[in-house]
Amino acid sequence: MASINAAASGTFRIGGDLEVNRLGFGAMRITGDGIWGEPKDRNKALAVLKKLPEVGVNFIDTADSYGPYVSEDLIAEALHPYKGLVVATKSGLTRHGPNIWAPVGRPEYLRQGVLMSLRRLKIERIDLWQLHRVDEKVPADEQFDVIKQMQKEGLIRHAGLSEVSVEQIEAAQKFFKVATVQNLYNLGNRQSEAVLDYCDKHDIGFIPWFPLAAGELAKEGSVLSKIAQKLGATNGQVAIAWLLERSKVMLPIPGTGDPEHLEENVKGASVKLSKEDFEALEHAVK
Ligand SMILES: NC(=O)c1ccc[n+]([C@@H]2O[C@H](COP(=O)([O-])OP(=O)(O)OC[C@H]3O[C@@H](n4cnc5c(N)ncnc54)[C@H](OP(=O)(O)O)[C@@H]3O)[C@@H](O)[C@H]2O)c1
Repeated sequence: MASINAAASGTFRIGGDLEVNRLGFGAMRITGDGIWGEPKDRNKALAVLKKLPEVGVNFIDTADSYGPYVSEDLIAEALHPYKGLVVATKSGLTRHGPNIWAPVGRPEYLRQGVLMSLRRLKIERIDLWQLHRVDEKVPADEQFDVIKQMQKEGLIRHAGLSEVSVEQIEAAQKFFKVATVQNLYNLGNRQSEAVLDYCDKHDIGFIPWFPLAAGELAKEGSVLSKIAQKLGATNGQVAIAWLLERSKVMLPIPGTGDPEHLEENVKGASVKLSKEDFEALEHAVK
């Protein structure tokens, strides 16, 4: 029986100096449907958060737009003053209803985002702040420059990007050191393979979002389900184990509003794949 401790995933130093266990937690699913409003069961959402330190998860990903605000507020309620925990947040997406996300990258809005996250999380500096989206309507340099300024002012310690290309990472690096990149990536969707390789080469943390999705691979009789069955694991646990094996900079953040699912996901950190199984999964989707 696999143990339940995210420490089994190994560690990574964000920005070279902020050490976390590589298997983290995504706090988007502790809100209402469509990532809008309060969760259906508030106590259950708080229970998930309070369980994180127990299962060795010390890296939490959230955003001001989750709820909006609900996720950050619940994190503060359950975990402040965050002893030994790194809370990463983001800004740059506005909300106009369930499942609607509209980028706003004007420097004054990004600054407001940071100041309000500081207030909600009840902290003086954000350990890792990520630009949720580069806003195409605003010159990228203006968005990167305000991040540089806020880092200089001590409002944020490390800065990251989300849904970006290698070219955008390189453009941002002219303003600040890019500590992490958060792009859609999972066993079934590898559109960000080139970005992952770049991050691996440059020791930039790569945070794959939607890590549990495996698309066609999750079906019964698939390579994934056969390997999971053989190892006595779930498809999700094997998907997590594959991500962790894929790169030393990989920081998966599976999300859930259910404490049992949290335990199940953390057990994925202890699932070890043989070279053959890793490669069979690697080649199952091109
Ligand atoms: N940067 C971005 O643009 C972006 C976009 C999306 C997400 N994210 C971040 O990435 C994190 C993860 O992404 P995600 O939530 O979309 O995908 P995910 O973690 O791959 O999947 C979450 C979904 O899987 C379910 N689930 C989780 N564990 C399970 C288990 N053990 N058994 C059965 N079902 C399970 C959850 O429902 P239950 O609640 O019922 O468990 C939820 O519906 C988010 O929390 C967020 O922090 C970032």
